[in-house]
Amino acid sequence: MSGHRPSPSITGIILTGFMGAGKTTAGALLASRLGWRFVDSDRIIEERGRRTIGEIFASEGETAFRSMEAAVIRELAAGENLVLALGGGALEQAGTRDFLHSLPSRRVVFLDAPFETLIGRCSSQENAPVRPVLRDRERLAQRWQVRLPLYRQADLTVATTDLTPEAVVDSIVGALFPERAVASPPQATVAAAHEGGRQ
Ligand code: S3P
Repeated sequence: MSGHRPSPSITGIILTGFMGAGKTTAGALLASRLGWRFVDSDRIIEERGRRTIGEIFASEGETAFRSMEAAVIRELAAGENLVLALGGGALEQAGTRDFLHSLPSRRVVFLDAPFETLIGRCSSQENAPVRPVLRDRERLAQRWQVRLPLYRQADLTVATTDLTPEAVVDSIVGALFPERAVASPPQATVAAAHEGGRQ
């Protein structure tokens, strides 16, 4: 870690994107780069419920899972100096979207990639936890279509297809914390990020 401190005006980053976007991997790296805490809303739901997401879907259904998810995100997003990775469906809840976008010192970052790339990444993650939504193949493309415009409301979008997790982090830091950016970020990184409406 260098001696720089993050921009005082941003005290939380919320990562969104479809399954396979790399939210957990990039989120943990980003938190480490900033010297912040990293939290994954899915893991907190599992820890608190002492059940996997798959078990919650199976026993209580998706609607119950979404209520738990919304409550946990509301609580976690209030934390300072925190990178929070959302589950891929969290922004389908209008209340969650409005809440996150209303927090002045937080930035929502969308990790973007083509649908086929994301599904391919998920399928190759042999040790990944069971994702009930991924198994419901018939509705996957439909879910993607519904979510894409919601993801795109993010403050920052990073096209991740050709980027390593480290380059994704470089891209986010370069856009949100220019004073901490690496001296010569790779060209692809700079081109991959664009800022959304809030800054
Ligand atoms: C879901 C994505 C999962 C998890 C749950 C539902 C979804 O999170 O929240 O299985 O609806 O897309 P990841 O995006 O971290 O896999």
